[in-house]
Amino acid sequence: MTAEAFIPSPYQQKPAKGSHSWKSPSNIALVKYWGKTTPQIPANPSISFTLNNCHTITTLTYTKQTTVSADFSFDVFLDGELKPGFAPKIEVFLKRIEIYMPFLKEYHFKIETSNSFPHSSGIASSASGMSALALCLMSMEREFVANMDDGLFLKKASFLARLGSGSACRSIEGPIVTWGTHKEIKNSSDFYGILYTEEVNDVFKNYQDTILLVDVGEKRVSSTVGHNLMNNHPFAEERFVQANSNLSKLRSIFKSGNLEKFIEVVESEALTLHAMMMTSMPYFILMKPNTLKIIEKVWEYRKETGSHLCFTLDAGANVHLLYPEAEKETVLQFIKNELVAYCKKGKYICDQIGFGARKL
Ligand code: DP6
Repeated sequence: MTAEAFIPSPYQQKPAKGSHSWKSPSNIALVKYWGKTTPQIPANPSISFTLNNCHTITTLTYTKQTTVSADFSFDVFLDGELKPGFAPKIEVFLKRIEIYMPFLKEYHFKIETSNSFPHSSGIASSASGMSALALCLMSMEREFVANMDDGLFLKKASFLARLGSGSACRSIEGPIVTWGTHKEIKNSSDFYGILYTEEVNDVFKNYQDTILLVDVGEKRVSSTVGHNLMNNHPFAEERFVQANSNLSKLRSIFKSGNLEKFIEVVESEALTLHAMMMTSMPYFILMKPNTLKIIEKVWEYRKETGSHLCFTLDAGANVHLLYPEAEKETVLQFIKNELVAYCKKGKYICDQIGFGARKL
């Protein structure tokens, strides 16, 4: 499907006002998206587990204006508090999607949002936040047209979410979503995420993700800056080839349920992501001493117990611990005994694979 296919035909009707709410989850990438070109086209395909508990709830209320305004007209609230600081990011998003949603300047929007995780937890809210907003806008557009089928609704929601934040396009559906063209994955696209429909071994059912909060501050280097540093990066081309090959490996791992191989791919992806940061110019490090302490402990624990616990990292210091549901009790005990000491204020979030966004 081309991007032009998402430009709508003239609308049949435009309601004067209305409101929609969506609850949209976060996701954790196994093969990482790191590097992009305009407009939000990933340099390599990625794949993620959709999460269940970490989510954003957004309500979009819209009122038709008497005249079409020159600029976008909106107010953003986080937990009931007006947040003018969020406006620039939303402005960029609306500008990028305007051609696909040609009614935007005819309305005033009230965007009310809240996250299940604390704002200062270091967990990026852009994936859940942008996907929730994209879905609200899709619900609005659905009122304008006679019969929009669910397939197109989800595809366009993911397409729009991508234009807000790349990883957000993987938060619409679940449990596993892939984004970016890959030669072995049918219908894969650089424009939107698709549900992974190939065979997946039962061991991945209800896979757990416990997020250890190592650093709770604002990120020092934004993902967008990091992505851009992949342009002219000395190892970029090799990295993009590697991501494609890791995705191929994951396809057979998902089928076989070989957790040793799963661990190898997932941990290598996490460390490669951070290696790219450390070898870009300017270089930077987002891991903290406690990130490394936790990684060492995980390796030790695996060696001693034969557990299938592994880690992955986002563009930050927090550590996502991934493990099969069958190990839930023992791993949680290990976290409480050995890892909590490395978490800011002893905080961690228990999550697991989820099934995507839900209309409220
Ligand atoms: C390390 O989706 O936050 O989490 O498109 O600039 O908003 P933008 O970037 P973003 O990048 C996410 C990077 C990552 C890896 C991933 O989720 O695949």
